[in-house]
Amino acid sequence: MTGATILVTGAGGYIGSQTVLALQDAQHRVVGLDDLTVGRPELLELSDRVLVADCRDTARLRAIFEAEDIAGVVHCAALAVVAESVAAPTRYLDVNVGGLLNVLGRAVEHGGVPVVFSSSGTVYGDPTATSGLLAEGHAVAPVHAYGLSKRIGEQALAFENHASGLRSVALRYFNAAGADLAGRAGEWHQGPESRVLPRLLGAAQRGLPFELAGDDFGTPDGTCVRDFVHVVDVARAHLQALDYLRSGGPSRVLNIGAGLGTSVLQLVAEVERVTGKTLPLRIGPRRPGDVARLVADVREADATLGWRPELTLGDIVKSAASWHAQR
Ligand SMILES: NC(=O)c1ccc[n+]([C@@H]2O[C@H](COP(=O)([O-])OP(=O)(O)OC[C@H]3O[C@@H](n4cnc5c(N)ncnc54)[C@H](O)[C@@H]3O)[C@@H](O)[C@H]2O)c1
Repeated sequence: MTGATILVTGAGGYIGSQTVLALQDAQHRVVGLDDLTVGRPELLELSDRVLVADCRDTARLRAIFEAEDIAGVVHCAALAVVAESVAAPTRYLDVNVGGLLNVLGRAVEHGGVPVVFSSSGTVYGDPTATSGLLAEGHAVAPVHAYGLSKRIGEQALAFENHASGLRSVALRYFNAAGADLAGRAGEWHQGPESRVLPRLLGAAQRGLPFELAGDDFGTPDGTCVRDFVHVVDVARAHLQALDYLRSGGPSRVLNIGAGLGTSVLQLVAEVERVTGKTLPLRIGPRRPGDVARLVADVREADATLGWRPELTLGDIVKSAASWHAQR
């Protein structure tokens, strides 16, 4: 399906801006909304229509739905730093749950506009008993306010579906990483960067040591194991989820990951391989909220949307390195 107007919240952020590009590449028109607390004006400007607004602002959101023929919503806007959410749980719940509820309310008011929601693999909490892959049926047990905010969001979508029939796809992304393959977007935030790959690339560029956030997790090399999935693959999942909903598909919750575990030390080795630089390492303390291992089973997204990851860890590091160098 092409030619629809899609509202993307968090369009000045990392995944939101890449999703804007994927939608535009598929000939959709994008209304991008962001309050720019974390996101960048340069990324928000990629949208066809730009709105600097808080996604909790009912009047602004209602006006957007009234002015535009919104055929679908991708709700990416959120605060998304786990350790910050441990320190400021109420603020995280306010923005993340409040933002979704406002979007949902307006989508219902306008006849049940389908919603794609940025959920997270962190809803599984600390699944230490699982050394394998986490499927959607695995128990959810968030261990911090960020994960809880995503779980409440998923439940709000399920209850609204039951009440009004509004359909949604909640995408539980694992660790999005990498940059646009044509260099149009990438990870770029206001303030200090919290994500591991841009921090690694920054250390490599400046010749500084990289501080590992703990090396005593119960994993083979002691560092956290994560499922790094290319942001271009993640962006494509939104497009496929919108197509699925606009073709009448029922509400779903789907994992979006690579289906492969990579430890932080393995990521360091890949960065060293791609950049040709050796990274001196220091062992620092664990970050609040970090768990040992989160790796997705992504077969359900394939079965439902025909989505599967196409790009590799090498593609992730190469695209991120060239984005980093270009900035
Ligand atoms: N990056 C990942 O690996 C990952 C993994 C799982 C889930 N997610 C989720 O995906 C979404 C996008 O993540 P991201 O990595 O692009 O993060 P990001 O921080 O780059 O983007 C989030 C955007 O939301 C905006 N925002 C925050 N509060 C807002 C508000 N009240 N009103 C309007 N805009 C607001 C920020 O300014 C920012 O541009 C988030 O919901 C995040 O929780 C991300």
